[in-house]
Amino acid sequence: MRDVTLLNIFEHHIAEKYLNRSGLAHAIAVAYHAFKLAKEQKQDVDIAAKAGLLHDIGHFTWYRNGKWDYDLYKKNDIHPIKGAERAHKLLIRLGENPIRAKTIALAILFHTDSFLPTNDIIRTPLQQIVKWADEKDEEEGGLHHYRKIEMERARESIIRLDELIDQEMENKNETEIS
Ligand SMILES: [Fe+2]
Repeated sequence: MRDVTLLNIFEHHIAEKYLNRSGLAHAIAVAYHAFKLAKEQKQDVDIAAKAGLLHDIGHFTWYRNGKWDYDLYKKNDIHPIKGAERAHKLLIRLGENPIRAKTIALAILFHTDSFLPTNDIIRTPLQQIVKWADEKDEEEGGLHHYRKIEMERARESIIRLDELIDQEMENKNETEIS
């Protein structure tokens, strides 16, 4: 039994605010990709999916004169730092195990090199999975942040992914016991 489900996260008002800001459809797609990759690579599917869902919650809206300003964003962006911190706080509030919360926060911190002066981070397999999952769903010009999803469909997708995670964790436990 997990301490925190994706649905618990999804239903929290902080997550709702920031998931919508950076694109709920993208967040859910990345959570699914991260789950599948983690399953294939025998990594922790729960941690991967949570990091996938929350990876972009640190985004700020860099607007100038009512329009998105890419230069401003490029210069000032620290969304992986902000997202890691925000996700950690949210997860701890929801009752997540502190070690798992830290692992998720670090995967969010390292999900991209875009905010760093160099791209020489050496990632753990799980951190690499979250980076790949994000790249799988990226669209040219950042369009993935604007893709829409109906709230009811989003909720159903989250519940479905929770079921897949539970199944996978159960299967893993059974193989470990036998
Ligand atoms: Fe992303």
